[in-house]
Amino acid sequence: MDIDRARARSFGPAAAAYAAFRPGYPRAAVEWALQPVLGASEPPRLLDLGAGTGKLTATLLEFGPVTAVEPDEGMLAQLRARLPEVQARSGTAEEVPAEDSSVDAVLVGQAWHWFDHDRALAEAARVLRPGGVLAALWNSDDLAVEWVRGYREALYSQRSVPPAEGTDNVPALPGHPAFAHSRHSRHPNPVRTTAEGLVASMGTHSWLLVSEPDVRERALGGLRDYLAGRPETSAGEFELPLVTEVLRTLRK
Ligand SMILES: C[S@@+](CC[C@H](N)C(=O)[O-])C[C@H]1O[C@@H](n2cnc3c(N)ncnc32)[C@H](O)[C@@H]1O
Repeated sequence: MDIDRARARSFGPAAAAYAAFRPGYPRAAVEWALQPVLGASEPPRLLDLGAGTGKLTATLLEFGPVTAVEPDEGMLAQLRARLPEVQARSGTAEEVPAEDSSVDAVLVGQAWHWFDHDRALAEAARVLRPGGVLAALWNSDDLAVEWVRGYREALYSQRSVPPAEGTDNVPALPGHPAFAHSRHSRHPNPVRTTAEGLVASMGTHSWLLVSEPDVRERALGGLRDYLAGRPETSAGEFELPLVTEVLRTLRK
């Protein structure tokens, strides 16, 4: 798998907008991901990889102490400001700044597709204790809804670069001898937003962050026009019917 490094590292300049407008994760999805390590006398020790501004971290904190690892200083600054109780470390999925066998779960929100999978799996296997969880989560559009398919068409008609794996379809976690019992689950994640909120959120997607300004303007302008013309989205707040997809596997 070829990773576009420029896109993987494009988020920093948009960190404040990312923190303000991107969706979080529902408690039920995180609880399902952590289920194999819940119920012990101590809360699970959690590692959030590619933690960004802390969208997933915030939900993880309901279950146990979190170490957040993120390579981009702009994203990390947002996370530190919003979640000062979290241990936030600069680092990558390929070189995780954590001791061997030191965590019960490694979680990845909307970032697995940016990792070198062989190296990330080896690092997750190293830092997880036996029986620990590796889980990857993605917030996806609910394509069963007609206006959602329409808004994506309006936006993506301008896209000249391919979608990152996992943002349009959820990949399986690749096989690795240290992991077994892989499972997949979907959880509703409805988000209240406005047309401007959705446009601002879409503006923090990597393909638009690396696009030429005219492409960005056309894409976001097309989306704005579409939302203004639809009864579901043209008058103030509405519900964006997101779905959170979770892949989970266990450290042998
Ligand atoms: C789409 S954001 C997701 C942020 C956060 N987890 C969330 O759910 O909102 C992807 C994040 O992965 C980070 N990232 C990119 N390549 C990475 C790597 N090799 N290791 C760790 N993080 C990486 C980016 O800097 C960015 O913050």
